[in-house]
Amino acid sequence: AYNEKESLFIALNFAREFFQQNLGTEEGQSIGLSYFKERGFTPAIIEKFQLGYALDSWDRLLVQAKKSGFETGILLNAGLILERENNPGNYYDRFRGRVVFPIHNLSGKPIAFGARILTQDKKQPKYINSPETAIYHKSDVLYGIFQAKQAIRQEDNCYLVEGYTDVISMHLSGIENVAASSGTSLTESQIKLIKRFTDNVTVLYDGDAAGIQASLRGVDLLLEGGLNVKTVVFPDGEDPDSFARKKGSADFRRFIQTQAKDFIQFKIDFFTRDAANDPIKRAEAIRQVVGSIARIPDPITRSVYARESARLLSMEEDLLLAELNRQLLKTH
Ligand code: UTP
Ligand code: MN
Ligand code: MN
Ligand code: MN
Ligand code: MN
Repeated sequence: AYNEKESLFIALNFAREFFQQNLGTEEGQSIGLSYFKERGFTPAIIEKFQLGYALDSWDRLLVQAKKSGFETGILLNAGLILERENNPGNYYDRFRGRVVFPIHNLSGKPIAFGARILTQDKKQPKYINSPETAIYHKSDVLYGIFQAKQAIRQEDNCYLVEGYTDVISMHLSGIENVAASSGTSLTESQIKLIKRFTDNVTVLYDGDAAGIQASLRGVDLLLEGGLNVKTVVFPDGEDPDSFARKKGSADFRRFIQTQAKDFIQFKIDFFTRDAANDPIKRAEAIRQVVGSIARIPDPITRSVYARESARLLSMEEDLLLAELNRQLLKTH
């Protein structure tokens, strides 16, 4: 007998295949496929990430799924359809007229979808995502982890980006050890997921104010999780996808390699920007750097970073250690 989760997996896989097949229809080719082509996605990368297209219709998935024997309740619990508010007992497709990015679990099974709008329509959200279901807990998942896990082990590093298309562009640039937090704050279970494969993370968030704030928060969470953290800051308005397309693969890879700084330098640069010698800014930078170091669980790693940051901030080590101890007492 099937249990609930097993039937959700089957429904999600059915939908994944349906969306992929839709790319081959006239509508799918002229709208979905040409969108991907415009973004530089190759047939091979479309296949690798099982990208698809949701037809611009109220119920094409629903009708097809019912024909194939799926019950309404399963499709509903899978997050694939919604009930009409003013017409109970009537249902319609959640994903319509959008390109579709399946989200896979560690073993490569689709467990959710993110679907991107094709126009610039500001009245609709850019991405519509699956809701939480019995098989999809957003906070436990990183987009791209299935396609990345081997490379993460091999490179002993994981690049962390914000978006679906950042992951895909990086693969196109020849970088496969990359996963996306999908625009939300990192969670403990996502950090544990990374730690199964490596202790080293490089944060590549968008080069806007929101992305930098998210980097600062992400750095602290990753440090708390016992990971070694580097960051790359992109020029304002660029994200890994847009920048890779602008630069080309080789220059993009070089940029990431040369710009990756450990979290200390990242914080110093951020808190002393435009005014490296302003004493008030320097003091704030010191407190901020020490605040991050205080989160590192391992005392030896902590003291190595304390020493390094005293050097980078050209201040006396004893002074920095005193501030570190003060902050440790405050937080423990
Ligand atoms: P971004 O707004 O940076 O989008 O959101 P993007 O990834 O660069 O997408 P493109 O290049 O415009 O296509 C980063 C991530 O946040 C989530 C998605 O996972 C997205 O990839 N997001 C964003 C949503 O879930 N819903 C939204 O409406 C917007
Ligand atoms: Mn959970
Ligand atoms: Mn963004
Ligand atoms: Mn982005
Ligand atoms: Mn983008």
